[in-house]
Amino acid sequence: MHHAVPDFSTRETRETKETIETITPYRVAGNCKISIVSPEINQIDETNKTNQINQKNKNLESPMKALITGITGQDGSYLTEFLLSKGYEVHGLIRRSSSFNTQRIDHIYVDPHDPNPRLFLHHGDLSDSGQLMNLIYNIKPDEIYHLGAQSHVRVSFDIPEYTGDITALGTTRLLEALRRSGVKAKLYQASSSEMFGAAPSPQSETSPFLPRSPYAAAKVYAYWMVRNYREGYRSFASNGILFNHESPRRGETFVTRKITRALANMLGGNQKRLYLGNLNAKRDWGFAPEYLEAMWRILQQEEPDDYVIGTGESHSVKEFVDHAFSYAGIEITWKGQGVEEKGIVKGASSRWDPTLKPGDVLIEIDPRYFRPTEVESLQADITKARQHLGWEPRTTFEELVKIMVDYDMKLAGLEPGGEGIAISLNKGFAYTNHDYSFYEKIREGC
Ligand code: NAP
Ligand code: GDD
Repeated sequence: MHHAVPDFSTRETRETKETIETITPYRVAGNCKISIVSPEINQIDETNKTNQINQKNKNLESPMKALITGITGQDGSYLTEFLLSKGYEVHGLIRRSSSFNTQRIDHIYVDPHDPNPRLFLHHGDLSDSGQLMNLIYNIKPDEIYHLGAQSHVRVSFDIPEYTGDITALGTTRLLEALRRSGVKAKLYQASSSEMFGAAPSPQSETSPFLPRSPYAAAKVYAYWMVRNYREGYRSFASNGILFNHESPRRGETFVTRKITRALANMLGGNQKRLYLGNLNAKRDWGFAPEYLEAMWRILQQEEPDDYVIGTGESHSVKEFVDHAFSYAGIEITWKGQGVEEKGIVKGASSRWDPTLKPGDVLIEIDPRYFRPTEVESLQADITKARQHLGWEPRTTFEELVKIMVDYDMKLAGLEPGGEGIAISLNKGFAYTNHDYSFYEKIREGC
């Protein structure tokens, strides 16, 4: 679908603004400790390096070491918990920020002065090759999970050059730092189903890449750099081509979280309308904690390779809205066409009297959320992952919606339905409680 789009080039999007407004006040109020470690800057002797760094102590006492870029993001936070639960020592790259940006990992923070800390955070940026090289050389990780990126597709149209720098070239910087350091780490690249773009569904490892955004084009470049380093330099570098995955920790401006947060805010009487873009886009939405288990499995293979990870099911944005509202006891009916389409309350549980009543318009279209070029439909063919990794999704679309609604209701101070929380706790994710301890910490005055 093509949309007439107003000029986005100079204007901050509402989503960007909302993110800033939502996050900043909390962070400036906090004073949480963060364990930042700055390894000494070593001069790397090019001629000697391979010998030096291949002498890694592999005795059984020494834990596996992982370096994660994007550790403060949705996936990075779950992956950290998962790897810590497996006994890894985890090192994360975090960006210098004038306000705290570690809310997803604050609850697993360990003061480096405590005995046996296993989580270390290091300042750095994917635009800074020197620090990437320095960290790899000094940490000597066994595995690198490269999750850091400017990851918002819509925003990539506003800042295409920056997106290329971080999402595309950032991967090259990391691959090159790894190669030059001589460290024999396995590298996971967070490739994306967005790379398939206009390719017909279902998409597998052999589907063509027809990217439809600066973000997708940047990821395609990064994908091919990974393959080139694998083939040219025999690097153990693998692509996980992950379809959309969501959770209570999903960024607030991605559509699923935007919907579940808005729903909770509406039920709490704190938001009147939800403005969305393309309601008909279809995505293969899965539950994020399962996807980082796939990442880990990809790096446990004997040989590097590329894998599609998804659920195999596809649902529209409108379906997501319908399911979320219905779980909360609100039936939505859709009226109007195109930008005039509206989501209206058809019926509501008496629990929401008098906050919501039949006839209330809750959802409207704002063309600012349309993309100049859209990906209409994504649906994964996960045959290869099933066969080679033994990986299967365990959470259905309906369950995912319930999980996200429950956690956002909890966050908004409302009594959640409870089914979603029970599902998330009973699906075998013993290493996480999906919390954003950030909010708890504010109440503690940290
Ligand atoms: P996310 O929540 O947006 O997290 C992105 C991470 O990258 C954050 O930790 C962010 O740090 C970091 N980052 C951004 N710019 C950076 C820079 N210049 N230098 C260093 N770090 C930087 O993303 P996610 O959902 O966890 O996704 C993880 C990765 O998988 C991303 O590469 C994404 O593109 C890819 N992916 C995601 C999905 C999905 O559905 N979630 C699907 C396919 C692929 P700050 O916290 O400081 O911003
Ligand atoms: N964000 C957003 N906001 N998307 C909306 C809205 C809205 O108000 N209304 C409709 N949509 C539609 C988008 O146009 C898109 O078709 C779909 O909802 C999903 O959008 P996002 O949740 O922003 O995710 P994405 O599919 O563009 O990108 C995510 O998944 C990729 C994997 O396919 C990101 O996590 C990427 O980093 C990831 O690679």
